[in-house]
Amino acid sequence: MKPSELLKQEHREIGRAISVMRSVADRMEAGEEIDPKIIGDILFFLMEFADLCHHGKEEKVLFPALEERAGDAGRKITDRLMADHRIGREHIAAMVKESKNYERDKRGAQEKLAREMMEYISLLTEHIRLENTTFSDLVDRSFSEEEGERLVARCDEVERELAVGHDQLLGVLGKVEREIKAA
Ligand SMILES: [Fe+2]
Ligand SMILES: [Fe+2]
Repeated sequence: MKPSELLKQEHREIGRAISVMRSVADRMEAGEEIDPKIIGDILFFLMEFADLCHHGKEEKVLFPALEERAGDAGRKITDRLMADHRIGREHIAAMVKESKNYERDKRGAQEKLAREMMEYISLLTEHIRLENTTFSDLVDRSFSEEEGERLVARCDEVERELAVGHDQLLGVLGKVEREIKAA
């Protein structure tokens, strides 16, 4: 598997979490009450999978490898992508805080929480678009098939070191998708 294929596959999983979050934000904006457990599960998936696992692979393996291989062109794009990761973490922290307020006071906190969600969704949507196009093209051009396979193997090592496994996290994602459809 090429590193760009691994990224695109994981982006599809993150995209599923983003669409559940979009339904939650839309419903909150329409004044509907959402079970805080669903919000907690979406945030758990995004922290454990999108950030620790997926961004971990990018930051520990793919970004440094591209910077080394592609020099300034590599660094230019990874700087931008790293900045997105940092802003994304700030949004996650804000959503965790607002979701606690939401548990106590749904009416009072729903507007701020929904706004944070929409900002995170638009950041991540554009981020994924950039990684699936310009970034993936540069990675594909910069590494041979064998080098790409070695990078993917190093990404697998990053994943193996994590406390919460990929399958378990996909289980959480499937559960919130079903819950939000049924709600
Ligand atoms: Fe990224
Ligand atoms: Fe990514």
